[in-house]
Amino acid sequence: MNDFIYHSPTKFVFGRGFVDRAGSEMAQLGFAKVLVVYGQGSVIRTGTLARVLASLDSAGIEYVEAGGARPNPEVSFVRDAIALARKSEVDAILAVGGGSTIDAAKAVSFGMPYEGDVWDFFAHKQPIGECLPLAVVLTIPAAGSEGSGSCVISNDAEHRKLGVSGDVFRPRLAIMDPELTFTLPPYQTAAGITDMIAHVCERYFSGVGAVPLTDSIACSIIRTLIDAAPKVLDNPKDYDARANIMWAGTLAHNDLAGCGRSLSPAVRAGGWESHALEHELSAHHTEIAHGAGLAVLLPAWMRHVWRNDPQRFLSFANDVFGIEPADDCEPHDEAVCDAVTAAIDELREFFVSMGMPSRLADFGIESHDIDPMLKTLLLNKGEPFGAFMPLTMDDARAIYESAL
Ligand code: NZQ
Ligand code: ZN
Repeated sequence: MNDFIYHSPTKFVFGRGFVDRAGSEMAQLGFAKVLVVYGQGSVIRTGTLARVLASLDSAGIEYVEAGGARPNPEVSFVRDAIALARKSEVDAILAVGGGSTIDAAKAVSFGMPYEGDVWDFFAHKQPIGECLPLAVVLTIPAAGSEGSGSCVISNDAEHRKLGVSGDVFRPRLAIMDPELTFTLPPYQTAAGITDMIAHVCERYFSGVGAVPLTDSIACSIIRTLIDAAPKVLDNPKDYDARANIMWAGTLAHNDLAGCGRSLSPAVRAGGWESHALEHELSAHHTEIAHGAGLAVLLPAWMRHVWRNDPQRFLSFANDVFGIEPADDCEPHDEAVCDAVTAAIDELREFFVSMGMPSRLADFGIESHDIDPMLKTLLLNKGEPFGAFMPLTMDDARAIYESAL
């Protein structure tokens, strides 16, 4: 087990009806005036926003609203919200929504005290410094941003989507009420589950050998999701299945599933190759949901790299799907190849069974779309990038092409 630093400072308040505790929990943290950030209207339609605002009122907390964060949130929204936060002199931020809303709120939290443009942080011109405290009411389990030290923002003018990392902007509080997720459309439910599995896989296939406890946690998260997914797609109000998915999403990305797997204790475990490939996809095609992009690119990446460490993939095949190489098959290499390929196929079929796409063509992506993505990928990640198998731009091209 490698050395690690596990920093998860978030207070998770998890349960039925707990959305109504937002105000009292915020008051306990000493906040008096907050900027409430939300997305493109789901929280208005579902009544979640009204419940949150009512609980702030009851707790005597003042608020101003910044609604309209879009999926794959854009920097111009963040700039506007920062201006509003400054003008209103808020002392904290409350995000009500999913990863896009939370990431926009995170960017406001470190952008507000900074005098320059918030994009400077993403362009790595400015290190993260002071942050306004952030709390979250989660409405879609997916990105894991409620517990993560990551923030991902798009810049449409530059066709870039970039992340920053920092423990200082991890949310102080996350209200997690699984009933809020009953209204999620099947596609968003599925995209969220896919993203969680990718978060676990990025860490699991990190170029580090077995770390038994962490690996068991990782595979257990994936098995839990595979078990719960059909239940919620069949019955969107299955509370237990929704609750397990919600908590799995947090554990998949708050770094618990990577303890002991990082190459240096100061950095998160994993090479994040599938995410790098996907972020280019949704940077250039902003209508693509992050999880849906991963449903195509994660298996394509796996197929490209598994020969770099077949044993690791065999452990995954066995722990997640109970697949083992046939012992009567000669030569052994062929049996290994069959087992690993079967596991990757099963994973892809699971995504498809939830309604996820299996090819880039399902998004209308064609071969001429690859060059622009490679151009910004090189700019953003350099060459080679990744950990399990360092990828060149030729590798990235091969993966995109294999997924067309
Ligand atoms: O915008 P509204 O109207 O709220 O609708 C949202 C949105 O259309 C809808 N939705 C959310 N909760 C709902 C609901 N609809 C009905 N009922 C509810 N209860 O769902 C749609 C997707 O929301 P979004 O916040 O975009 O989803 P997600 O949580 O998947 O976030 C995706 C973003 O997070 C980034 C992604 O790249 C993408 O930009 N990521 C952030 C990470 C992090 N900060 O740690 C890590 C991830 O790897 C990821 O990169
Ligand atoms: Zn992700």
